[in-house]
Amino acid sequence: SLSSALASIEEQFDLSKIKLQGILDRFRERMVYGLQNHGAAMAMIPSYVTGTPDGSEKGVYLALDLGGTNLRVCEVTLGGEGKVSMKQEKYKVSDQLKTGPVENLFDYIAASVAKFLKDFSSAAPQNPQDGPLLMGFTFSFPVEQTAIDRGTLISWTKGFSCPGAVGLEVVQLLQGCLDRQHVPVRVNALVNDTVGALLAHAYHAKGALLGAIFGTGTNGAYVEAVERIGKMNAAHAHGEETMIINTEWGGFDDERAALLITLFDNTVDRTAIRPRHHAFEKMISGMYLGEVVRTVLIHLVDSLHLFQGFSSELLNKQYGFDTAYVSAVLADKKPSNSADSPTRLVLVDTLGIKAEHVAEGDVETVKAVCKIVGRRAARLSSVAIAATLQHTGHDQHRGGAELQESDYIDIGCDGSVYEFLPYFEEWVREALRDLVGEGAEKRVRMALAKDGSGVGAALCALQAKKQHDRML
Ligand code: BG6
Ligand code: GLC
Repeated sequence: SLSSALASIEEQFDLSKIKLQGILDRFRERMVYGLQNHGAAMAMIPSYVTGTPDGSEKGVYLALDLGGTNLRVCEVTLGGEGKVSMKQEKYKVSDQLKTGPVENLFDYIAASVAKFLKDFSSAAPQNPQDGPLLMGFTFSFPVEQTAIDRGTLISWTKGFSCPGAVGLEVVQLLQGCLDRQHVPVRVNALVNDTVGALLAHAYHAKGALLGAIFGTGTNGAYVEAVERIGKMNAAHAHGEETMIINTEWGGFDDERAALLITLFDNTVDRTAIRPRHHAFEKMISGMYLGEVVRTVLIHLVDSLHLFQGFSSELLNKQYGFDTAYVSAVLADKKPSNSADSPTRLVLVDTLGIKAEHVAEGDVETVKAVCKIVGRRAARLSSVAIAATLQHTGHDQHRGGAELQESDYIDIGCDGSVYEFLPYFEEWVREALRDLVGEGAEKRVRMALAKDGSGVGAALCALQAKKQHDRML
């Protein structure tokens, strides 16, 4: 029956407190492992960014952002006192560019920078003697960083797969394309989007512990004590005590030792561009959440529990159920029998299921599946946050009724799942209470680090300039 089919799905996706705890233990162990060893699935990459800004930084920098929904070019003016103004333009990256020769992708990026300078920039150098503008490059993929402005691609994620790119030095590649097109820009910092989110949030909030992305992909970067980064030569920290680590937590437990992976997840995984890679990300992020829901719905159709056994072309198609639809369904507060229920509209108007095949109970079922999959994503996300709190010793609760300003732990978040999936933060907090207790959960202040990579990359370019000037 439908109810036992749903109960079985619910059970497969269930993450009780005890199960979550087991995953958390493994997560903490892999954090330590990755700090000691090169080549771990959860790579724990030193960013070469030491410390976080305090809001006093000033200057004009360009920022380039590749790896989220859009390619963006920004001109960022840091005004000090946490003030920022920014001009930005988005450029579309076609699937052809995402999967074709890497030279084409980088040529397109360089051309977009040139176009931005021509159309929008007020800071672009007018005379050759003015020298190039400095640019921070947010490249949101796993990169083995060797300096603040150097790094090689470890692997593609999130639907990018340009052949021949793994192992290439991405700043040189981009700089080469910029130079060939005579674009007066020098790339002086290479940043992950999580590092950008952390820096940008710290600039506004006067400090932060963690920058987290819950978007097309998922990942986090946090402030680590240099002495704990066993695999890195401490000299790279230029005498500073902390360095930001890009965890690449999307790759957590690719060994599948602790994650409770369902058959539905395996279906999503084997049909993805990179099977058996970034398992954790595939259970959490926006690129895959809709696909997990779709896989469950198709199973219910096949077992004749949904839409009288009928589907539609779009529902049959890989990635046909966009994560934005999951958000729309979760936001639906109308009764399931109303003709204008948003869920029904998604099913009939968007997905093309025949109206006569969608009974009131089907609307309920689709809502239930979206909730099961969305809530699991949030509970898994809380594991990553709780692990970071515990690993850095920020999981203590504070006595006394009122929290002081210094008791708060700031986390800058960004990405379409964080921003648009209803209940996401609520579910994350509920699970955090399970994992670190209410006292510590209350100290956590999560906020949107909107467009973090623009400001973050600019701050990174500034820090790189300071490091460079100091060495001269
Ligand atoms: C954007 C950031 O706001 O969010 C990007 O500027 C980041 O750097 C992105 O990659 C993540 O969200 P999404 O949903 O676009 O992948
Ligand atoms: C993927 C990338 C990672 C990025 C994240 C969020 O997990 O590997 O570098 O930070 O997506 O965009």
